[in-house]
Amino acid sequence: MTATMGHRGTEPVETIIEGIRSAGTAPKSRATTLPPAAYTSQEVYDLEVDRLFRPGWMMVGRADRIPNPGDYQCVDLLGESLVMTRDRDGELHVISRVCAHRWMPVAEGSGNAKALQCPYHLWTYALSGELVGAPEMQQIDDFDKALCSLPTVRHEEWLGYVFVNLDGAAEPLAPQLEPAMPALTHVGAQDHQWFETVDWGECPWDWKVMVENYMECYHHIGSHRKTLQADFPGEATWTAETPDAYSLMHIPAAQDGAFAGTEDALLLNIFPISLISPMVGGAFIVRIFPLGPGRVHIFTDHLLDRSALASPDAEAAKKEMLDWITAVHIEDIEICSGVQRSLAGRLAPIGRLSHLEEPLWRLYRFLADRM
Ligand code: FES
Ligand SMILES: [Fe+2]
Repeated sequence: MTATMGHRGTEPVETIIEGIRSAGTAPKSRATTLPPAAYTSQEVYDLEVDRLFRPGWMMVGRADRIPNPGDYQCVDLLGESLVMTRDRDGELHVISRVCAHRWMPVAEGSGNAKALQCPYHLWTYALSGELVGAPEMQQIDDFDKALCSLPTVRHEEWLGYVFVNLDGAAEPLAPQLEPAMPALTHVGAQDHQWFETVDWGECPWDWKVMVENYMECYHHIGSHRKTLQADFPGEATWTAETPDAYSLMHIPAAQDGAFAGTEDALLLNIFPISLISPMVGGAFIVRIFPLGPGRVHIFTDHLLDRSALASPDAEAAKKEMLDWITAVHIEDIEICSGVQRSLAGRLAPIGRLSHLEEPLWRLYRFLADRM
C-alpha cells in the first residue's frame, strides 16, 4: 500500500471506498458527507483518476477564448500537456503538446501562431497536430512524418464550453445534458461570452471540497452573509430532479434585492468536476485541475451577455462582475482551506447534510456508482 496524505494513515483504501458507497446509497433524508479520508488519500485519488476523470468529461475552457484562426491556449490536465487550438479553417482541436521527437512541449501559455514549432529542434506542427516540418531528418530510414502527428484528444463543445474525454470512450455529453437546457435557455446561457480568466494557482484543498462548496448555497447564511445572502438567500435554494450526469441547483433572487423578478440563477455540476453558474446577464465558472489528493489548480472564468460586452458600458460591467465574483471567491477560498486543514486530523467526523445540500448527495451517488 502506498502512503496516504496524513489522514488516518492506517485506514485501508477498501474501508474508505466502503464509506463512499455508504454516503452514496443513503436516502436523501439521511444524507451524510463522505468519510474525511476520501479527501486526503493518495489511493482514493488514484482511483478517481482511473474511474472518474479519465473516463469522464472534464471542462477545460471556453471556445470563445480562442476565437480566431491561429489562436491557442495550453491546458495541463492530470499530467497531460495539452493545447486547445483554432486551425486555419476555424475548427477547434484539443491535441497533445508533447513533441513527437523528444518530448519538449511545443507551446506554452496562449497566443496566436501559424503553426506550433518545438523550441528544441524546430519540428513544426500544423494547428491540427500534423507534423509539417522536421529539419535534418532526410538521411534517416523509414521516417514517416505522417506517423509523428501530435495525438488528438477527444473533445466536445457544449454551450461554448470545451470538455475533453481522455480515454476516448465516454458517452457523448450533450445528450446527457439535454434535460438541463430549458433552465439554461431561460437565463440566456447561449448568449454568454467569456471576457476574463483569473488564475488562482495551486490551492491546498481537494477537488471535492471545491465542488461541494460551489454546489450548495446553505453557506450564503454564513460565509457569504455580506456578499450573496441579501440578493440570493441560501434558504430559498432548491435542487432539480436530474439524471445521473449532473446536478442543477436553482437560486431564486430575493424579492427585495437587486435581482428581484429575474429568472433563478443556476449552479450546474457536470459530474464529476465541471462547475458552471449561469444567471441572467452572465456566468461564473470554476475550472478545477486536480493535482493530487487535497491539491488543485483553480481558474475562474467570467462571462457576460454578448450584448453587454458590445455596449459602451462594457468596461464598467466587466469590472463590476469581476469585483463581485472575486470577493465571493475569496470568501470561498478561506472556507476551502479551513475545511481541508481539518480533514488532515483524526478528529474530523462524518457529517450530516441539510436538505439545502442535495447536490452533494447527488455527487456521492455518482461517486458510489463509479468508484
Ligand atoms: S523535442 Fe521537439 S524537435 Fe526535438
Ligand atoms: Fe461560496
